[in-house]
Amino acid sequence: MAQINPSILSADFARLAEEAKAVEGADWLHVDVMDNHFVPNLTLGVPIVESLSRATKTPLDCHLMIEDPDRWAPRYVEAGAGSVTFHAEAAAAPVRLAREIRAKGARASMALKPATPIEPYEDLLPELDMLLIMTVEPGFGGQAFLDIMLPKIRRTRELISKHGLELWLQVDGGVSESTIERCAEAGADVFVAGSAVYGAADPAEAVRALRAKADG
Ligand code: DX5
Ligand code: ZN
Repeated sequence: MAQINPSILSADFARLAEEAKAVEGADWLHVDVMDNHFVPNLTLGVPIVESLSRATKTPLDCHLMIEDPDRWAPRYVEAGAGSVTFHAEAAAAPVRLAREIRAKGARASMALKPATPIEPYEDLLPELDMLLIMTVEPGFGGQAFLDIMLPKIRRTRELISKHGLELWLQVDGGVSESTIERCAEAGADVFVAGSAVYGAADPAEAVRALRAKADG
């Protein structure tokens, strides 16, 4: 079954606990950490992740859009994240980092910006629990889905099958009721949705509607 991860980036930051509770039927809560260096936007850090992990029963899927994830990613596991995603473009030692995240007890995940190909990372896939393919340039919610990423999703799914791996394939950016079926058809199985969930009158219902579409 498809997993739907609402992105708290599109929620009201002054009411984070309530906004997290509003989507408690979701699989994971996607938390976008931005440092104003790796991406041109600034969001939240370790203390807020710690508070969020106490405020909701939904496990936290932390997406680190930051420089020097080798230094910071383990801190997010300690803060209570169940899954930590670092960017391939920012990690100095992705294998060591993935192993450290796993050793600390979280799922290890790596993200690729739209211009970063999957092929150089084929041999690293067994080290990961999830791969995130960005379907917008990271930094902001509410951007239009990049259709040109569909071939990369398809090629990644083929590599996962070829190696007989269990890892999840996540897409993030512009995922909505009108784009989720294309992502699922290309091979994604974990779907981040910010504006499509928090922009809806009933966020919990939006999660159910997205899941139904992804499952076809
Ligand atoms: C963008 C973030 C996304 C963002 C998605 O850099 O990584 O998680 O919240 O928002 P939507 O679903 O509105 O594109
Ligand atoms: Zn994200």
